[in-house]
Amino acid sequence: MKQNIMTTTKNISFSYVEAHSPEEMEKEDHELLLAAQQAAISAYAPYSGFKVGAAVRLSSGLIVSGSNVENAAFPSGICAERNALSNASSNHPGDFPSALAVAALTGTGLTPEPVSPCGNCRQVLAEEEMRSGKNIRIILGGKKKIQIIGKAGDLLPLQFSREDLKVSRH
Ligand code: THU
Repeated sequence: MKQNIMTTTKNISFSYVEAHSPEEMEKEDHELLLAAQQAAISAYAPYSGFKVGAAVRLSSGLIVSGSNVENAAFPSGICAERNALSNASSNHPGDFPSALAVAALTGTGLTPEPVSPCGNCRQVLAEEEMRSGKNIRIILGGKKKIQIIGKAGDLLPLQFSREDLKVSRH
């Protein structure tokens, strides 16, 4: 028989904006998305044929980008988002990311739907937000629609963070 244990059901939700054309977007977001589309052209994706570009806007206004680089040993490949963020952190330390845009190209051009960062990239984005204490705005662009998320951490609820490492050792 079920014991009478008190549980609580919690709910996590977040809102994001959907746009359908550049006219509906903030000028800076559109500019960053164009930089991500441009970055996708230099992707090295011979195995998946899925060329992804990411562009990061830094606090100074500077834009840096990255694309996915695949490898015959599949797990050694890296996503566009993490390449762009590593580029920013390595070459512009202290100039923290304020926004990141993503776009992908397949054989037929820009994907109809927006491409969403993978779990690994979400974890890295969460660390970058924690480092700077500033939100990173996410702009995901497809041909049919663009999704704009105000804070990268919203894409990774109940995330693992440095707080979790503060465990007492016996
Ligand atoms: N990929 C990215 O670069 N970013 C994403 O957001 C999703 C996936 C890459 C990894 C791999 O090279 C290819 O796309 C197919 O998964």
